Amino acid sequence: MSAGLGDGTRCVHAGVSPAAPGAPVPPQPVFAAQFHLGGDGDDWYGRPHNPTWRALEAAIGGLDGGECVVYSSGMAAVSSLLRTVLGAGDTVVLPADGYFSTRDYVRDHLAALKLDVREIPTAAPWSAETVAGARLVLLETPSNPGLDVCDIAAVAALAHAAGALVAVDNTTATPLGQRPLELGADVTLASDTKALAGHSDVVLGHISTADARLAARLRAERTASGCVPGPFEVWLAHRGLGTLDLRLARQADNAAALYEALRGHPRVRGVRWPGSPHDPAHAVASRQMRRFGGVVTFELESAAAVASFLAAAHLVTSATSFGGLHSTADRRARWGDPVPAGLLRFSCGCEDTRDLVADVLAALETH
Ligand SMILES: Cc1ncc(COP(=O)(O)O)c(C=O)c1O
Repeated sequence: MSAGLGDGTRCVHAGVSPAAPGAPVPPQPVFAAQFHLGGDGDDWYGRPHNPTWRALEAAIGGLDGGECVVYSSGMAAVSSLLRTVLGAGDTVVLPADGYFSTRDYVRDHLAALKLDVREIPTAAPWSAETVAGARLVLLETPSNPGLDVCDIAAVAALAHAAGALVAVDNTTATPLGQRPLELGADVTLASDTKALAGHSDVVLGHISTADARLAARLRAERTASGCVPGPFEVWLAHRGLGTLDLRLARQADNAAALYEALRGHPRVRGVRWPGSPHDPAHAVASRQMRRFGGVVTFELESAAAVASFLAAAHLVTSATSFGGLHSTADRRARWGDPVPAGLLRFSCGCEDTRDLVADVLAALETH
């Protein structure tokens, strides 16, 4: 599909088969584990191949600008990449402030590789020293939960000069918000459990790369390790992707309004949303991001203050994950993130902006 089309058009038509009389208009799921053998078709068994995966891979790959491989979760994508590209004794650079399970996986499940693990904050002053000797530099920008941002093109240049592969966890941004491959990264990956599928009813992930040899190695690793997605989940994600443009637009409107409402609020500290010109990450973010999403981070006085805020809010529920239709908030210290006890990652849903902001402000009055 033409890259010149708008985001809405591209999402609606992404991975949809050309018109054929009598064929269904939307993509349809194929659940088979077995396929008849004997022809030249692509499919013979449900672990290496599935036509429903191929439709979503075409859709996401088109948006990311690379070849896409789908996985059973975001962590399946992250771990498959790590297993594929890292060897014993390699140096890997991980985001110190990114999604904690990535660091935990490397520490607890790749210990036998005796990796040299370097944890660098996203907003660090990146230099030749921070990436020296690395086999893989994994970035997460905007980072989860702090929403810090790094300059992908600048870090990719440093990392490539050091001989490293550069991967970006693009979960928070989505392929509409940011295209890491166009900015010089070798790999973009995401938890599509979040905004891409968008309805909080699917766990899924993907990796895209413009390097066909790496994509083939990733597919082979996916088949061998079996971290394959269920066709039903893949089909649901494809259905969700059709409205990503619309959902992101409302979520970003809500985030912008919430950020403004909270910025001067006497109970709120450290509100972050890279889409605002007042955010410290805005200059870098607006250079490399195409548009912004619906996740806002801010801090209340304590864990108890968060609990009473969430109990008072009618439109916001306490739940982890983000990017869904419903507004949710997650106190990240609960999971062990190295953040203050009262820090909330707030995922704006698709409610009307006026209603959501009024609900949040009213809930902040009750303590
Ligand atoms: C930035 C980021 N990367 C990866 C993951 C892992 O994704 P999943 O839960 O789909 O395995 C998450 C999940 O929250 C995430 O926020």
